[in-house]
Amino acid sequence: MVTEECDLLGPAEAMHPAEAALVERAVERRRREFAIGRQCARRALARLGVTGLPLLAGPNGAPLWPAGLVGSITHTHAGPAGFCGVAVAARQDVVALGIDAEGADSLAPALWDFVLTGAEKRRLDGNTRAGHLAKLAFVAKEATLKAVLPSAGQPLDFRDIHVDVAPAEDGFVAEVVVQVENLPPDMRRCVGRFARHDRIILAAVVVPNRGEPASGPERPFVGFHAMC
Ligand SMILES: CC(C)(COP(=O)(O)OP(=O)(O)OC[C@H]1O[C@@H](n2cnc3c(N)ncnc32)[C@H](O)[C@@H]1OP(=O)(O)O)[C@@H](O)C(=O)NCCC(=O)NCCS
Repeated sequence: MVTEECDLLGPAEAMHPAEAALVERAVERRRREFAIGRQCARRALARLGVTGLPLLAGPNGAPLWPAGLVGSITHTHAGPAGFCGVAVAARQDVVALGIDAEGADSLAPALWDFVLTGAEKRRLDGNTRAGHLAKLAFVAKEATLKAVLPSAGQPLDFRDIHVDVAPAEDGFVAEVVVQVENLPPDMRRCVGRFARHDRIILAAVVVPNRGEPASGPERPFVGFHAMC
């Protein structure tokens, strides 16, 4: 597995024309985060020997990784300089991969009903760190959705995933709690890791092929180290 990361404020390299066409009508902020994501992806792919190909996107927004590879992109404007991260792995090692980065603050109460299941909300009742734990659940669910959606063949939302967060271990277990035909069992229940970096929370879900341990990243994220 290879990972690349950078902040969102630096200069963005030119995109492949086919990539630029995907965001030609987007606002500047969106074009920038997309371009930086493609730049990180291009660097990660080059380290795996893949060059010159545009990284296009499917109708649901998921990147269309070259044959034989899986990957995930995240960007956030949180933190002093924003953050963009990309992880890419060979499908023979990893069958699904999802990463997410968000600001390390509390999840706004207005979002709780949208993000959390009833059971998850009940577990937070009376907890003085409920807002922070809710944010961890949100980041974990985003990473899990990115790992699972490309194989699910159907839309999923946050409450279709139940997350058990273990902040002391910087880990979580995420389970798909709705029926998804043909979703492999190892994607129904995913194990993930958290890391923190410069006011940003990072979550990563890696589903190794055939249950074998995934090899670690060659050059890890500052924040994602030891996660993948
Ligand atoms: C798609 C989603 C995972 C994006 O996450 P986010 O935290 O908003 O944004 P991030 O910057 O971390 O990630 C965005 C990247 O995720 C990737 N992405 C987008 N859709 C994706 C999908 N379906 N599967 C996997 N990855 C996806 C893209 O690479 C995108 O960046 P890019 O467009 O620049 O390439 C998030 O919106 C989500 O969880 N959606 C599903 C839940 C939902 O809202 N459902 C409603 C009904 S289906």
